[in-house]
Amino acid sequence: MTSPMKNSRATASRRSLQHMLRALLSHARLFAMAMTLSLGLAAISQAADTAAAAVKVDDNSFRCMRQMTPVRHFFVDNLTGDIAGTLAAANAPKGAPYPAGSVVQLVPTEVMVKREAGFSPATGDWEFFELDVNEKGAKIGKRGFAEVNNRFGKNCFACHAPAREPWDFICESNHGCDAIPIDHKMTGALQRSDPRCGPAVPEAGDTMALLKLRALVTIGATVGWFKSLF
Ligand code: HEC
Repeated sequence: MTSPMKNSRATASRRSLQHMLRALLSHARLFAMAMTLSLGLAAISQAADTAAAAVKVDDNSFRCMRQMTPVRHFFVDNLTGDIAGTLAAANAPKGAPYPAGSVVQLVPTEVMVKREAGFSPATGDWEFFELDVNEKGAKIGKRGFAEVNNRFGKNCFACHAPAREPWDFICESNHGCDAIPIDHKMTGALQRSDPRCGPAVPEAGDTMALLKLRALVTIGATVGWFKSLF
């Protein structure tokens, strides 16, 4: 037979158990609230990070090509500071998407800049630029996405599109783009005479390469777009 004493003890311990459970539940709720709050804060700070990494491009984004980082026969930069990411993509043996902020240049007057993810899905988020350069710096002549023709009516994107996969629209010599009649001796000579870098630092053969390039332009035997290189 159970004594009333034992009964009341049992009731007391059931109560304290209930109390503990309630306390635990309310802690769990608090914990869940804290988690939601901290996840919310994480999302906010992530959004702030993304905003901080926005790629702003104006005349001052561009500099003397030879101060950028050389990769094979061209130069790269990164406007958000992620030069390591840009180099990793440029050196990936099987190609890789370039990170936001990447700047790629073969000649002083034409540039591709990788914008924020989702900015221009059709062009892989690349924005195309045509610059006017002189010893004082660069001025953006033209900029835009798939619709951009250079001043001679040739479309940057149309030429670069065959290199879409897996080269992220970077043509180089063997990524599927139609060849252009301008070789790396010529592009090298243009790089070494970028007026923004001070006096030219010509290598043997540069004068001849530039003469050939001018001749090509003069006789108009080739696509007009590289008249814009001068
Ligand atoms: C007639 C086709 C054609 C047009 C038009 C053209 N490109 Fe290119 N571009 C190429 C090819 C091909 C290469 C690679 C040349 C090489 O390295 O041998 C190249 C190279 C480049 C490079 C160096 C990285 C790479 O893809 O190899 C950049 C940057 C570039 N072009 C930007 C532009 C911009 C900006 C425009 C428009 C203002 C433009 N291009 C217009 C065909 C073209």
